[in-house]
Amino acid sequence: MSPRRVARCASLRKVYGSGDTAVAALDGVDVELFAGEFVALTGPSGSGKSTLLHLLGAMDTPSEGLIEVDGQSLTGLDDEAASRFRCERLGFVFQFFHLMPSLSAWENVALPARFAGAERAESEARSREGLARVGLPALAERFPDQMSGGQQQRVAIARALINDPALVLADEPTGNLDHVAGAEVLELLAELGAERGSAVLVATHDPAVTAAATRAIRLVDGKLDTDDEPAR
Ligand SMILES: Nc1ncnc2c1ncn2[C@@H]1O[C@H](COP(=O)(O)OP(=O)(O)OP(=O)(O)O)[C@@H](O)[C@H]1O
Ligand SMILES: [Mg+2]
Repeated sequence: MSPRRVARCASLRKVYGSGDTAVAALDGVDVELFAGEFVALTGPSGSGKSTLLHLLGAMDTPSEGLIEVDGQSLTGLDDEAASRFRCERLGFVFQFFHLMPSLSAWENVALPARFAGAERAESEARSREGLARVGLPALAERFPDQMSGGQQQRVAIARALINDPALVLADEPTGNLDHVAGAEVLELLAELGAERGSAVLVATHDPAVTAAATRAIRLVDGKLDTDDEPAR
């Protein structure tokens, strides 16, 4: 049985600006992502990695081309449908963690479950389970400024996964961590994605991410340079 396809881009273009100052950040990209894959997205600075994550994350719309995630076309979504889709079907991990400073670890993790309509008690239970799974059962009541960078990123991973997303998008998730914390975060992303059957796409300059990935996609000047086929 072949794995489920969770994302597809075809002839994807994104142009910023217009006229003389127009920049084609993505210039005709075709990619498919499958459940259970852990994909490293590499390429020089400015090659379009973050732009591709933004488009797959329904945070921005393409100039041309097709984009589908979890069977849903993202090109026709209005703002409200896009934010619902992001919350229910996607998980995000950022370089600087982006936790809410006024919320405890478990409250941060529970947020997407609450937004998706889960009851408070159920969200809290799932949140605490998620924190245990990322190795932080004792830190549930801590606030972000009482945790190390690596711990904050593990909280962010638990948050990204609480709604069992089809696709997890991570932009430089190890970029602000030391080697040991980065390696822990990588291992968790890879294990948890595989465990839950999510596809995980990680934009990165970190060779350790590429080494851990099941597949590597390289962008150069907004175009696909290489795409090592997944072992299926
Ligand atoms: N909001 C924007 N407005 C105008 N140009 C933009 C915008 N966002 C990105 N760009 C341009 O699009 C191109 C791709 O940028 P992008 O951020 O996707 O690159 P990247 O591969 O993520 O780079 P890095 O490795 O430095 O994070 C660059 O030329 C960038 O300057
Ligand atoms: Mg980037």
